[in-house]
Formats: sequence, C-alpha cells, structure tokens
Amino acid sequence: MNLDFTPEELRRFIDQTADIIEEIYTEKLTRRVFAGMSPDQVLQPFDEDLPNEGLYLSEVLEKVRTDVVGGATMNIGPRYFGYITGGGNQAAIMAEMVSAALNQNNLKWHSSPISTEMEKLVIRWVSQFIGYPKTAAGAILDGGSTANFNCLAVARKNMAPESMSDKGLYGLKPMTIYVSEEGHSSFDKAVDMLGIGKKYLRKIPVDSSFRIRTDLLKKAIIEDREAGLNPICVIGIAGTTNTGAVDDLVKIEEIAKGERLWYHVDAAYGGPAAALASTASLFQGIEKADSVVINPHKWLYVPFEAACILVKEPENLRKTFSHLPDYLIGEDTGEERTDLMEYQLPLTKSFKSLKVWMTLKTFGKKRIVEMIGQDIDKARHLASMVESAPGFELMAPAPLSIVCFRYKPAGASEDEAERLNKRIIAAIEQDGRIFLTGTRIDGKTVMRVCFINPRTTLRDVELIIEVVTDLAGDISVSKEA
Ligand SMILES: Cc1ncc(COP(=O)(O)O)c(C=O)c1O
Repeated sequence: MNLDFTPEELRRFIDQTADIIEEIYTEKLTRRVFAGMSPDQVLQPFDEDLPNEGLYLSEVLEKVRTDVVGGATMNIGPRYFGYITGGGNQAAIMAEMVSAALNQNNLKWHSSPISTEMEKLVIRWVSQFIGYPKTAAGAILDGGSTANFNCLAVARKNMAPESMSDKGLYGLKPMTIYVSEEGHSSFDKAVDMLGIGKKYLRKIPVDSSFRIRTDLLKKAIIEDREAGLNPICVIGIAGTTNTGAVDDLVKIEEIAKGERLWYHVDAAYGGPAAALASTASLFQGIEKADSVVINPHKWLYVPFEAACILVKEPENLRKTFSHLPDYLIGEDTGEERTDLMEYQLPLTKSFKSLKVWMTLKTFGKKRIVEMIGQDIDKARHLASMVESAPGFELMAPAPLSIVCFRYKPAGASEDEAERLNKRIIAAIEQDGRIFLTGTRIDGKTVMRVCFINPRTTLRDVELIIEVVTDLAGDISVSKEA
C-alpha cells in the first residue's frame, strides 16, 4: 500500500484540476477582485480538527473549486493593481505541475542535474535580459526580500575581515550600508539579521524625482569613515517600490568604486525594463554592479515564487555560502559539477527554474518586452488622466509602471484630503471592482497603482478614475470623510 492513485484515477483528477484552472481563467478572472469575506468566513469551510480519515480526492478538489478559489483575491485578474503583484502566466502553470510531479531537490548536482543546469541557464538568460554579464553566477530564491538578504550577506562577507566567519562581528568596527530613503524594507530586516544594525543602514535623502541624492551619498560615506566606521556597501534602486524611481546607477557605481565599496542593485521590480529601448538609459550602470536582485515573479510575469540573485564573481557566492557537513559529501566523480547549495542559504528548494525557463522559452524576450512596454503605456495613460481629471493630483513622476495619485476636491484642506484618501482606499477594497493599495508620498496618503499584468486593458485603467470618483462622491455626500 502506498499513497498513489491508479493511473486512471490520476488522469481523472488531473482532468478535474484542469477544469478548475479553466474555470478560473474563464468565469472567475473578472469577478470582484477582493472576495469581500471576513477571516471567519474564509476559514469556516475548512475549520475542523485534524482529520484522521482522509476524503476522496475528487471531493477534496470540489472543495478547492468552491472554497479555495472563493477565498482568493483575484490577483491574476485585470483589475488588480495592488503592491507589485504579477498575474503569472499560463505556461508556468504547466511548469508547476511537472515540477511538483518530479519533486526535484537541487541541493547537490546529482540530486537534480536538470534543475541545477536549468537554474544556471535561467540565471544566464535573466542576466542577458537586463544587460548584466552572462558570466555572472546566481540562484533563484523565494522572493526579493530573501534575495536582498543573501546579497548583503555576500557583500558583508567580502568586505569584512576573514576572521568574521569564526568570531562574528564582535570587536570589528561597525559596518555601514547606504541606500536611499526609498529603499525597500527588506534592507532594514537584512541589516538587523546580519548583525550590522538598523542604525548603520544610512538612508540617504532623495531628490524631487525620488532618486538618491548622490552628492549626499558621497558625503555620508566620507563622514562615516572619518568617524571610524567601516562603510561596506552602496545600494542603487532600479525601480523603487513606492514610485518606480530609478537611481542614477552610473553615478552610484562611480562613488562605490571610488570608495572601494560593494555595489548592489535592487532591481527586484524594475529590472526587466532595462531591456526596453525607451527605458534602457535609466538602467545604465546596472551592468557594473557586484550583485543584482531581480524578481521574475514581478515583471517577467512568472508566478510566485521566483527571485534571482546575480553575482558578478561566482567565487564570491561560494565564499559566502559554501559549508560542507559530512552528510552532504556525496559523489566524487572528478567531473566539474555545480552544487547550488553553495550559492545560497537554503539547501532544499523547489525546481523554480522550470517555470522561469518555460515562460522565457514560450514567449521569448521580444513578446515579454512588448508586454512591459504596454504596462508602461498604461501607467502613462493613467498619469495623464489623473492630471486632467477634476480633483485628482499626480503625486510623483511615473517613470515605469507605478502611478501615485490622490483625490483632493477643490476647497478640501490637507486634513480632509488625508481622511478622504484613507477612506477611499478602504472603500475600494470592499467595493471589489478594482483593487489598489495606498502609500505615503511626502507624508501624504496617496493611492498607488502598479501595472504588471498584461491582462489589464486601457478600459480597466479608465475604470480606476471612475471607481475613485464614484466612491469619493459617496464618502463626501455622507460627510464621513
Ligand atoms: C524594490 C523591491 N525590492 C524588494 C522587494 C521584495 O520582494 P518580495 O516581495 O519578493 O520579497 C520588493 C517588493 O515589492 C521591491 O519592490
């Protein structure tokens, strides 16, 4: 006895699952975006003590069709604009099925030759996509936060004295890392966990386009060094989370090189736009970075999770992550083999490269670049609508596919605008026609929209203005703002 089904049953369940997937892409895609249920309502169909006896898979799948799909936010739908959430792609669904079926574990080469070689290939392709040297090494991790953490670990390892591995940071000069005020929160977490300390993550002010002030960057490094600290790394952002701003990477590289610091680029979101003729110039200098993070699960349309670290000198990865206990000494064939466990913190991980490879192989760079171009056009369309619609204000330049705006009707005070925009953001979730999230720009609450889903049409973009106007009207009429 084992846990497998008969071949006939297996086929039937795959067909039943295929029906669920088809239903999602036909009937469910344009249903209300946020399911509109309370936590109790979501849990209710599943809430039971651990079952001792199993249920026939066909019935389990029926529950998936109704209650799992029912409790999901329609992230993949055309009117989801929240955070930086891609809509995935259908070719990758097949990849995920095969990946689960093969259950490869690429800690060592011989435990999954195909997953290892494909991951190396995908790292090369992603590097080529953004114009990074194809000789770089890397790994595919679960997300940009883990990826940034891994890259700062590489930077720290390379910039600290060798004794750090054994003795830790005790007795060393405090290390400092530099990023703009718009840097992603994963850096705050990383410096905390790496023992560098949040105080030593220097947040450099930005200019009116939300790009790092490189004059202040250089000054901060010099002052820290004079104060007896140990500057180790400068981070450039290629597409900030808030507004999509791209730092002056050429200037940052110049400063990093001049000061002999590690130069890391967080291109988790914006990186793929380096491949577009219209935006390529913004990304000049990325090719010189010592390390780069880029998330295929954002703007390369790959479903979660897939975030790449790219490191120019492969040896730097090995130096940071290689650790060989007895139970991992496997084969000794004399053949040149790469064990990916030497390139990353995790040992066991899923066959993530398959879905990235299938996406790039099925659609090709040309088609993906076209999709990115369309996303940027959608952002431009919304930005120009915002600029001409009564009461709407564009709150930041929109160089990529993120648009920040607020609604402030004539005569409204700053306080009223604050309250109104917070209420609109909450009302949008419950309304369900569209989904967006808020942020703060220059201390003001704003609505923020991100286009990284080719299913979004210009009509969906226009709906944003309609829904906001509609809901804002209700709020001010009821004088709740
Ligand atoms: C610039 C940037 N870096 C890092 C991250 C973190 O990526 P993840 O959400 O995959 O952890 C994000 C997420 O939006 C991001 O925008």
